[in-house]
Amino acid sequence: MPTPAVRTAIFPVAGLGTRFLPATKATPKELLPVIDTPLIHYAIDEAQAAGIERMVFVSHPSKSAIERHVMDDARLRAELRSRGKAELADELREASFPEGSDEVVFTMQDQPLGLGHAVLCARDHVLPGPVAVILPDDLILGQGCIGEMVDAYRRNTPGHMVATMQVPAEETRKYGILSVTKTEGRVLRADGMVEKPEPSEAPSREAVVGRYILDASIFDDLAKQTPGAGGEIQLTDAIARGADRVGLAGLRFSGQRFDCGSKAGMLRATLHLAADDPECEAVLEEMIAAATAGTLAA
Ligand code: G1P
Repeated sequence: MPTPAVRTAIFPVAGLGTRFLPATKATPKELLPVIDTPLIHYAIDEAQAAGIERMVFVSHPSKSAIERHVMDDARLRAELRSRGKAELADELREASFPEGSDEVVFTMQDQPLGLGHAVLCARDHVLPGPVAVILPDDLILGQGCIGEMVDAYRRNTPGHMVATMQVPAEETRKYGILSVTKTEGRVLRADGMVEKPEPSEAPSREAVVGRYILDASIFDDLAKQTPGAGGEIQLTDAIARGADRVGLAGLRFSGQRFDCGSKAGMLRATLHLAADDPECEAVLEEMIAAATAGTLAA
């Protein structure tokens, strides 16, 4: 039987973004830009490039700006046109979803009960088959990570697949960690996953980053899931619960990942992209020269 296609991507975007306060008091963290492009944009582009047909955003009532950003704004376009900015109006339309499109669904997670609970909130809106989950604050540049996973999933049919990268032992407590049983090139077969273990308890140093392809049975497992680490319904625990039944694998993705949920990661991503941006390149060189000369903080 051919592997069923991955048609839906779930974007959990209900989090309050406390690490970026006060910037995130009124602006959702997913709308914070790296140079001039909001994080959510990179995530949507990645899903579209992977052939995803439906995007389900699990948001929060206080974050309606995400919906306004993602959906077409005919009034704004008309205003731009009347000011002779037709090209900009066309670009905005290109980058947004038309009103009433069944390519996009917004649903609410009213209470912060965890990533697993957020994914469960999408259940009634997904298309049949396995689903992708994309965490927009994990920015992955280079080859589209979810596209790479869709290809690997098709070849390896693992049931659940997670994107992984190796981390130093002292960082296992920041990630879901895979219990690896066998390495087949870039695919790591696994029999479980542990959420944020202490280094002494970690089954490996293969950390899960914010890209998943999950067998549709994840929703039944999530519905049965009791709170885990941090008192939250953990996606990691529901994945581990299904590992024996449907299979689990990690994919060592090829792109470069930036933790844009942290100031350091956001800065790294900005500097990385600045080096490629004609408007920013010279500024970057100027700042590096100043830093080298020790005059930056003056
Ligand atoms: C979440 C997941 C964790 C994963 C991480 C990747 O944690 O629970 O398993 O490794 O994303 O960024 P969070 O960073 O939301 O605490």
